[in-house]
Amino acid sequence: MKKIVIKNAEIVTMNNLNEIVHGDLLIENDRIAAVGRQINEHGIEKVIDGKGKTVIPGFVQTHIHLCQSLFRGQADDLELMDWLKKKIWPLEASHDEESSYYSAMLGIGELIQSGTTTIIDMETVHYADFAFQAIAESGIRALSGKVMMDKGKEVPKLLQENTEQSLQESVNLLEKWHDYDSGRIQYAFCPRFVVSCTEELLTNVRDLAAYYRTKIHTHAAENRGEIEIVERERGMRNIVYLDHIGLANPNLILAHCVWLNDEEKEIIKARGVKVSHCPGSNLKLASGVAEIPDMLGMDVIVSLGADGAPCNNNLDMFNEMRLAAVIQKPVHGPTAMNAKTVFQMATIGGAKAAGLEGEIGSLEVGKKADLAILNLNDFHVYPSFGVDTISRIVYSATRADVETTIINGKIVMENRNLKTMDKGIIL
Ligand code: GUN
Ligand code: FE
Repeated sequence: MKKIVIKNAEIVTMNNLNEIVHGDLLIENDRIAAVGRQINEHGIEKVIDGKGKTVIPGFVQTHIHLCQSLFRGQADDLELMDWLKKKIWPLEASHDEESSYYSAMLGIGELIQSGTTTIIDMETVHYADFAFQAIAESGIRALSGKVMMDKGKEVPKLLQENTEQSLQESVNLLEKWHDYDSGRIQYAFCPRFVVSCTEELLTNVRDLAAYYRTKIHTHAAENRGEIEIVERERGMRNIVYLDHIGLANPNLILAHCVWLNDEEKEIIKARGVKVSHCPGSNLKLASGVAEIPDMLGMDVIVSLGADGAPCNNNLDMFNEMRLAAVIQKPVHGPTAMNAKTVFQMATIGGAKAAGLEGEIGSLEVGKKADLAILNLNDFHVYPSFGVDTISRIVYSATRADVETTIINGKIVMENRNLKTMDKGIIL
């Protein structure tokens, strides 16, 4: 049995009993075997000195487009629909086998460097197989799938697909990658958004996801222009429409959810739909400020995602947490979103969205060993009297404070050296 121990660390467990403990954390193979108690080093291959370090659950990002990592920054002055038509769709259409692989590796490198250990990812129409290859080699935990878009005159020819092709290619990928590496990789169906999908496609996705027991990952109610198109073409508000066709269920992950009325929030709550809040992207694409305090008040499960590199410029969860905390303050007051709530969204909230709350999202015996070791001693994050660790992480920490990242019991970055990506981008 392969054993790793982290000695004498501060451990942010986020379990229900002890938020933070001090002591050792033992990993046996891919799982956590002990948290907090002293571990004898005898017979343990790898001992990591955790003195002065902070161990946290790896971040779970519930809305990422690895296929857009090569297009970083391509959204300085556009709103969603123009940005898709003028920039993103033509760029996605330019992908080939190699660029899809390297785009994914570039994104994964950044994610692992900044402590993210699980992603819910949406690839482009073609070449998703090569992104899955990168995911498999890198060691990151992922739910991913090819984007589905069988509708839209303004879509470049190379991205156009018919309903049958879209469904068949998704199922082919699912059969190849779902449950790969003992479930580290899962397939998720990814209809792009209602604007790009026929009702036939969406209802087939509903049925296939139920049959294969997979998640469905899509965008919804991100931008006012988008919801106007949905209302005009389908005669209903975005979330009402998703419910009307039977897609609103606990396995649905909705990115953004900025423009919801009360009825739509009630549907999300009643159906157990999961929300992926993307504050960085919502700001940069001028989409709006999602009403997250409202949703949390209704006990909706909210998680966090950086979205793609074009509409955020980085995939760093520290950035996302900080934005999630601060953007609510001018609207709802200084206590609208406390640091612990944001940290929960970034960890256990994401695990719940992915349906993996029994496996990841907190540091507990029996869960998968997905974690990051932080060094919170640099000038910008040094402890100040009375400021707790979680507040320091949310408001002060950066990706540079992540020293080591472990996923599924494997060290994928050690002392900032990425380990498992020899064929990918060397950062
Ligand atoms: N809505 C439909 N496609 C996309 C996309 O690629 N990114 C974002 N942010 N929103 C979308
Ligand atoms: Fe997106």
